[in-house]
Amino acid sequence: MEGSIAELFGNGTIFITGSTGFLGKILTEKLLRSCSMKTIALLVRSKKGFDSNQRITDICNQSMFDRLRIEKPDFMTKIKIIDGDLEQPSLGLSTEDHDWLIENVNFVFHCAATVKFNETLEIATRINIQGTENLLELATQINHLKGYVHVSTAYSHSPRSEIKEQFYPVSISAEELKNLIKRDENPPKVLEDWSNTYTFTKALTENLISTYENKLPISIVRPSIIGCTKSEPEPGWVDNMNGLSGVIAALTIGMLRTMQLSTDKISDVVPLDYTVNALIGVMWDTVNRHRDGNNKNKEPKIYNYVSSVESSIRREKFIQYIYEGYYQIPPLESMWYMFCIFTANRWIVNILRFILHRIPGALVDLSFVIRGKKPKILKIYKKIENSTDLLKDFTTREWKFDNSNTRELWSSLSQEDRKTFWFGFEEFDWKEYIKCYVYGVRKHLLHEDLSNIPRALSKHRKLYWLHLLCIFLIVCIVFLVYWMFMT
Ligand SMILES: NC(=O)c1ccc[n+]([C@@H]2O[C@H](COP(=O)([O-])OP(=O)(O)OC[C@H]3O[C@@H](n4cnc5c(N)ncnc54)[C@H](OP(=O)(O)O)[C@@H]3O)[C@@H](O)[C@H]2O)c1
Repeated sequence: MEGSIAELFGNGTIFITGSTGFLGKILTEKLLRSCSMKTIALLVRSKKGFDSNQRITDICNQSMFDRLRIEKPDFMTKIKIIDGDLEQPSLGLSTEDHDWLIENVNFVFHCAATVKFNETLEIATRINIQGTENLLELATQINHLKGYVHVSTAYSHSPRSEIKEQFYPVSISAEELKNLIKRDENPPKVLEDWSNTYTFTKALTENLISTYENKLPISIVRPSIIGCTKSEPEPGWVDNMNGLSGVIAALTIGMLRTMQLSTDKISDVVPLDYTVNALIGVMWDTVNRHRDGNNKNKEPKIYNYVSSVESSIRREKFIQYIYEGYYQIPPLESMWYMFCIFTANRWIVNILRFILHRIPGALVDLSFVIRGKKPKILKIYKKIENSTDLLKDFTTREWKFDNSNTRELWSSLSQEDRKTFWFGFEEFDWKEYIKCYVYGVRKHLLHEDLSNIPRALSKHRKLYWLHLLCIFLIVCIVFLVYWMFMT
């Protein structure tokens, strides 16, 4: 293998899609902080009345760029914003930007996607499949492309229980799906094997990429569930309520009290900063693999980026560590003491939802109405329950992953590269990481400062006794009802 990872980009230009998202923000930050390059070009669309320039300026002023601001104060001079939208033909690029990209880009990280599990098939196809195809077409025109890393997901082939680092056939191609949607026909039957449109379109996108095998120096990285950062640029950084982060938030504020989940199954979570390092490592490997400039007969390599092979953790342990984090730093603005019943049985979950969500929710809403306020708790519960239902496949199943390519890459790194771009899982400290996750959710999603911890602990001691009192009263009522009707 040639050269260190930090030197890989040299005086080159990196093109990133999805830089305004969870993964893309930290990838951009890490590249700017730990690597040298001439330019980082970011594909950004206008959104909610903000143009691409304004959006990137706002992001760069956020706290996760604080460390970069200190270490590389002139980092903004490296950024070039490219106005564009994956869904538009030719990415909606101006002729000037299009020509600039073709002339200058050397490395592409494609992170952009819609990750909504309940996205319509049409939109998921437009962004994940057509968007990727538009970018691939552009990449084939780039004059000096050295490497292209496509971000997929470890669950793209979720109907299978064992996932190797290989392409898997799907009974419909990306092209056929696009034609079906164009003709406004019913969704294909095979979609029923997937639990959502997100992973389904990701699977078809991978197969679309396989058709570019002789045309581009390309690799695919499949991360499992990406959690908060472990240490960089700061521990516990997270910026959205999607998936696991939303569950931890709803649990620790005492709202989520039951959920369909198999506690005995293995969970697979990878820290965000580790994932970013793995993406950069894969770019290094890809460039080296194609260093002779010959893309012929080089099948795109797939890297499963998962934690369960080297450091597996069962969900019951994961939950126990969330509780331990919560006992130390509960949020002040919580509704109730943290307590949740997990079961894989759908019927039990439905009954428990009625008792533990709807009845208390209706009572609190009633108290709002009496005080002349707008009721909102039942609405929030509906949202939480819909979101956790969407996660059902990921909370009740487990997968066996092979990650040989990723491990091979990891073992080929120099000590220096490992230190700067750590993504290995040997001796991973889950307890510490999950505690840091609870802290990160508290700080970044619930917007609570550490200074309120003494007050929060005191509040939760009271909530604990109130919680016990409620359990005692419920047990009394059950006995009373039993005594009245059965004797
Ligand atoms: N998060 C996870 O747990 C996880 C796990 C495995 C794999 N992944 C993969 O990681 C990648 C990033 O996910 P994420 O969690 O960072 O998602 P995210 O926070 O929702 O970010 C998605 C990014 O894609 C951009 N995007 C979406 N549609 C676009 C369009 N039409 N044109 C241009 N940009 C568009 C978004 O831009 P806007 O800001 O303009 O919307 C945003 O920057 C995805 O490929 C996903 O499949 C994520």
